[in-house]
Amino acid sequence: MSKVVSKSIGAFCQHYPKVACVVTASAKGRDNAMAVAWHSVLSVSPPLYGVALSPKRFTYQLITESKEFGINFLPFESAEILASVGGSDGREVDKFSRFDIARDESVETGVPILTDAYAAYECKLVDDRGYGDHRWIVGEIVAVHWLKEALTQDEVIDLDKVKPTLYIGKELYLAPLKDSMKYLDRQVYAKGLKEG
Ligand SMILES: Cc1cc2nc3c(=O)[nH]c(=O)nc-3n(C[C@H](O)[C@H](O)[C@H](O)COP(=O)(O)O)c2cc1C
Repeated sequence: MSKVVSKSIGAFCQHYPKVACVVTASAKGRDNAMAVAWHSVLSVSPPLYGVALSPKRFTYQLITESKEFGINFLPFESAEILASVGGSDGREVDKFSRFDIARDESVETGVPILTDAYAAYECKLVDDRGYGDHRWIVGEIVAVHWLKEALTQDEVIDLDKVKPTLYIGKELYLAPLKDSMKYLDRQVYAKGLKEG
């Protein structure tokens, strides 16, 4: 194995895998959904969530109009939805009817919540800034939907019940392998691995 050092970003894939999810929006009587892999929680109090969106996306236009968006986490069995909504343009097609995507009621916003999602956030837009060719939109989470069975008693995802969808670029999706899970207590490891 040999490492390469370069100033070129190449395929720009080193940050993968990422959990892929579906951003939803609704404005002017149009509902839409798109796949995203570039997203992150930013704050717990208040609960803030950020997503990198190209301003070319129809979803981005709907979000600037309505000031709301949804983040939907899909199980691996529903990964095809990510490819469908991530490969089509909402200006040309009603993705919900074309791909037969079922919706649940939202409670604090007007954004579509995907029935297939094991968890979803309803967000109110609080910031929208440009960074290079993408916008970084930030929403305050105002409601959370989740499947009770998807969490263990310790409130971590129960991988026996739900497999989050990971994306590694080039249209490749995978599920996490439960057998690879390790418990590494930071209090123990912070003391130094070699200490007894
Ligand atoms: C797995 C996957 C991840 C994606 N991640 C992003 C992303 O993070 N940001 C983005 O702007 N587009 C991303 N895209 C592309 C959009 O989902 C795609 O351009 C979509 O067709 C936009 O739909 P819209 O124009 O109807 O909003 C991704 C696509 C896929 C398949």
